[in-house]
Amino acid sequence: MTEGYLTRKAHLEDVKGMHALLLQAAGKGLLLPRALIYLYGHIRNFYVVESPEGILVGCCALAPVWEDLGEICSLVVREDMRGRGFGRNLVQACISECRELHLKKIFSLTYQEVFFVRLGFRVVDKSVLPQKVWADCVNCAKYPDCDEIALVLDVSEATTAWM
Ligand SMILES: CC(C)(COP(=O)(O)OP(=O)(O)OC[C@H]1O[C@@H](n2cnc3c(N)ncnc32)[C@H](O)[C@@H]1OP(=O)(O)O)[C@@H](O)C(=O)NCCC(=O)NCCS
Repeated sequence: MTEGYLTRKAHLEDVKGMHALLLQAAGKGLLLPRALIYLYGHIRNFYVVESPEGILVGCCALAPVWEDLGEICSLVVREDMRGRGFGRNLVQACISECRELHLKKIFSLTYQEVFFVRLGFRVVDKSVLPQKVWADCVNCAKYPDCDEIALVLDVSEATTAWM
């Protein structure tokens, strides 16, 4: 049951909850932790899901990377709320914004291959994302032996029905 749950742009008041959710998932090696100062500074990139009681259920960011390319990152849904479509809603909110920004493609570097494939993403080689590799990956402790999977979505092919 997801009635009354709201997917919306993040507010500054959401940051501490986002930080805690991301830290928990990062502790399991599923994504990168984000510092509070990063989250405050990048708040405009973030969407959240809020429960009818005002509890933060999840968050996700759309980060423009290049003229036609964006990244889906910092995606997390509370452990006890997974499997109810909130992750999909968050990504679809980002896809809607891609259309406003004229971003043609989005990608994710992730361990959640099946989740992203269910949303229409396709697995690609990281070499098709040179801007990401040279801007971020080379500075990452995992480089060059990163085991995350790169997936890309052509925005024009995506369907969105989150609002
Ligand atoms: C990945 C994550 C955000 C998914 O959120 P969620 O709310 O559980 O996902 P949804 O309920 O919207 O699932 C959408 C679809 O993906 C499938 N799916 C979701 N997670 C899956 C998984 N781990 N394995 C297989 N399928 C999965 C669902 O069954 C659903 O399929 P459907 O199209 O048949 O309905 C959540 O598992 C999570 O927070 N994981 C930890 C953090 C993480 O790994 N983030 C990704 C970093 S890029």
